[in-house]
Parts: sequence; structure tokens; C-alpha cells
Amino acid sequence: MRRPLSQLPSYRALHAHAQKIRKHTLREWFAQDPKRFSMFSREQEHFLFDFSRNRISEETLDKLLALSGECEVETWRDRMFAGECINLTENLPVQHAALRDLEDATSSLAESQNRVLERMEALALQIREQGFTDVVHLGAGGSHLGQKLVCDAFCDEATPGLNMHFVANVDTTEIQRVLHGRVPHRTLFIVASKSFSTPETLSNAEIARNWLMQDDKAKESSERHFVGITAETERALAWGLQEHRVLPMWNTVGGRFSVWSAAGLSVVLYLGMPAFRELLRGAREMDRHFRNAAAGENLPVLLALLGIWNQHFLDTVAHVVLPYDMRLRYLPAYLQQLEMESNGKCVDRAGRALDVPDAAIVFGEVGTNAQHGFFQFLHQGGRAASCDFIGVVRPGRGHRSQHEMLLSNMIAQTRALMFGQTLEEACAQGDTACAEHKVFPGNRTSNTILLRQLTPYSLGQLMALYEHKVFVQGVLLDINSFDQPGVELGKKLAEHLLDDLQTADLDTDLDSATRALLAYYKKHA
Ligand code: F6P
Repeated sequence: MRRPLSQLPSYRALHAHAQKIRKHTLREWFAQDPKRFSMFSREQEHFLFDFSRNRISEETLDKLLALSGECEVETWRDRMFAGECINLTENLPVQHAALRDLEDATSSLAESQNRVLERMEALALQIREQGFTDVVHLGAGGSHLGQKLVCDAFCDEATPGLNMHFVANVDTTEIQRVLHGRVPHRTLFIVASKSFSTPETLSNAEIARNWLMQDDKAKESSERHFVGITAETERALAWGLQEHRVLPMWNTVGGRFSVWSAAGLSVVLYLGMPAFRELLRGAREMDRHFRNAAAGENLPVLLALLGIWNQHFLDTVAHVVLPYDMRLRYLPAYLQQLEMESNGKCVDRAGRALDVPDAAIVFGEVGTNAQHGFFQFLHQGGRAASCDFIGVVRPGRGHRSQHEMLLSNMIAQTRALMFGQTLEEACAQGDTACAEHKVFPGNRTSNTILLRQLTPYSLGQLMALYEHKVFVQGVLLDINSFDQPGVELGKKLAEHLLDDLQTADLDTDLDSATRALLAYYKKHA
């Protein structure tokens, strides 16, 4: 059993070191050292990773790398790739990266996955030949967030004549809005649910089935309108899916990693198999980097260590994801689940209460919209947050000059956060009225990731970069990043409360607030 993080000598050394670091500012460091950027940036294939705007010195980096060594990050990484049962609470290996290792002749998973890819391709071809114009992907949480991110990112290059929709919420507003205006006999539903028991997904599938049954043409062969993707084939068959239209998910691949599995069928349908293979290949390249690069050069390791440094030692209150590219607008939601469902846990592997912060509070929004949303808080709020700015050098579509405006905004924000503005500087601008309101504390941390261009390959790399970052942070915290028991309690209570909502009597064991809310509902329903 490992000692808790807070008791490790390398962690304690960081605490003492942080006291020294707090006395310095980014402004001062950049003024003193013209080589700061080259010292604290790394280039990896199509990526530039700039972490020079973190409140770190060379000594900080050395100390963080010592922490990584003491926590045996490399050993855990190798255990994951070797297929050991590192998901302790579920007694399972963690195999999402293995799904991308399609050429590993020794892996039975690679063999199965290659067969699955062939089935996906054949099914996609068949579906396209059947004349569907709309595909509705039904899936909750991890069973849709990655797929939605990828499909939306490249919608400009999608299969002509095919529209893709995603429905996750049990609130029927979402599915009703999607179904409105669709032609039933031209609409296909993908039911993606690893457990095939998620109420949101199953109730939406039921609504879809009823909608099809109301259409004379569609009802004749309604089963042709569904494809299921699940690790629970029996449940999918019992629901009424046809066996040849059910693709497998593996129980060793968590829901939030499902985009690499057969649940990536939406990507294959919408963007084509070559694009899906490129996505896998990009992620594979990041796996290779993560496995082979020395810790000080290793992007996921660096990103993870910097996150821990900011949250544990410099008291940042949140981590903000800011893609400056509309094609990445669903990245914040995807990363929110990845980081917070994986590492939002208050006990370590041994079941002991954590005495250090766990997952960062992650939120984000696409730039420049975020600037007009919550940047006031980032610049002048009393509590600091760390940010990841993500930009793409080459524009997707449209005007270069507008794209340059976008990127100049991104780079300006990182500069403004870092330098801030002193009272003298505010006054020097000529407007001395209320000058103290125009003071920006500065010294605020950010990473910048620049991709040369956004392709399925580079997006695969980016997604795998964050997956491994989250994995490394889980190792540092000594928690299991691969279960999500916290989601279960609310689900169970919802089942009981549904009975209470739908029956005349209220359960007498309920607390007063719950009873009052139910009573209010019943009175006004
Ligand atoms: O939100 C909890 C969760 O268990 C996620 O991990 C998962 O991606 C999602 O629900 C959907 O689960 P399923 O794929 O089993 O429907």
C-alpha cells in the first residue's frame, strides 16, 4: 500500500518550495530570462505545448518530476498497457488504448477489434445504401460525448446527404426537437449503451420506436431502423434489436472511452472509415509518445504534473478549457466528464480518505465566446483558475484574416492573464478615474496547445493526450480513475422517487424537503 500523497517526501518538498515560488511573478521571470519559453515548451509531431506561463522555475519542474518518480507513474503506465487489472474496484484491466493498437499481433483484443472494425465498415456501407438521410445517436455521458465532439469537429467533411444528431437527455424536449421534421422511414437510430440499462438512453429508444410505429412505411421494418452497441448483447436482443445489428463494447473499456470502440460507429457513418482510422492512428501516436518519452518530455505527464502543482500548491479554484476553434466547441464538455468522472473521488485505492484535492473543477467554452462570458472572473476575480488555451494554426474554413483575429485574441488573453496591469499602467493610459478598478493582478497560469491543423489524426492525439493526463493524475493521487460509483446513488434514488411522483401517497420515510418538493409537484402537475 502506498503512503498517502501528502506524506510523500517529494510532495512535502513541493510544499516548502511553493512558499518560495509565491514570492515571484511570471512578469519578473519573463523579464529576467529570455529563454523561458524554450525551457518550458515542447514540440511533439503536430503539437506545440507551451507551459512557460505556469508559475514554475526549473527547480519546480525537477521537483514535480521527482514526485512522478516517487508515485511510480511509469510503472503504473506500463501496467495499464500490459493489460493488468488496474481498475481495482471492478477487478478489470483498462483497455481503451489497446483498441487503438490494431497491429499488435499478440493481442487478442486487437484481433477482435479488427473484426469489429470490419463489421462497422460493412454495416455503415449497408446503412448508406439503405437510403437513410438522418442518423440519431442515442447515448448518455461517455456513450456520446466523444462521438459528438468528433462528428461536430469535422461536419464540414461529412458524408453528403447524411445528417447526424445526438440525443442524451431523458428530457423529451431533446428527442422531440430532433424528431421534428425528420422522415421516419429515412431515419436510423444508434442505441449506444455499454450496460444497455441506462434509463435515459432506453426511454429515448422507446420514444424512437413508437415514433417509427406511427409511420406506415417505417413500421413495416422498424428493426431495420436500429443499431445497438453494447457490452450486454442479451439485453439488446431482449429489447428487440436484431443480432446482426448489435455491435460489441468491451467491459474493459470505460464508457468515457467509448469513442474508440464500436460506439464510434456514428463517426464511421458520418465521416467515413478512413477518418475513424485516422482518429485511432492519432491517438495511437500519443500512446506511443506517452509510453516512450522521458518524463520531462512527456506531454501527458507534464500536463498532469502542472495541474497538480496549480491545484495543490498554488490554490487555483478551477481548470478552464478554452478551445479557440469552433470545431472544438464540444471539447470542454468531453473533458469535463473525462476529468471529473475519472478523478472526482475522495478515497484512495486503499479506501482511505484523501487529504489533498482530487479532480480539478473543469469548465470551459469556445473562445472568443468565453471572453464575453466568464473572462472577467479569470482576469480580476479574487480567486485564480488555471487555463488550457487550444488553438489551431490553419483555419478550417473561411477567412484567414478572421482566423488571425481569433488567434490574436487567444494569444492576447494568455498575455493579459500573465502580465496583468498595475495601477501605474492603468493610470498611464490617461484615464485615472476609478483606476483601481482597472488593475489586473496578473500572474495567472495558462498552458497553450497549438495544433498545426485540425484533422481526425490530430484530434485523436489531443483526446489521448488528455486521457493520459487524467490517468497520470489518478496515479499521483493514488485513486482508481476507471470506475464511477458516485453516479449510482442518485440513479437509485431517482427510481424510488419516480414511484412517489406517480402514486397518490408519499413515502413517510422521506425527509421534509423531499416531501415538500414532491407535494408541490403533485399539487401543480
Ligand atoms: O454517467 C455515468 C455513466 O456510467 C458513464 O460512465 C457512461 O458513459 C454513461 O453513464 C452511460 O452508460 P451506458 O453506456 O451504460 O449507457
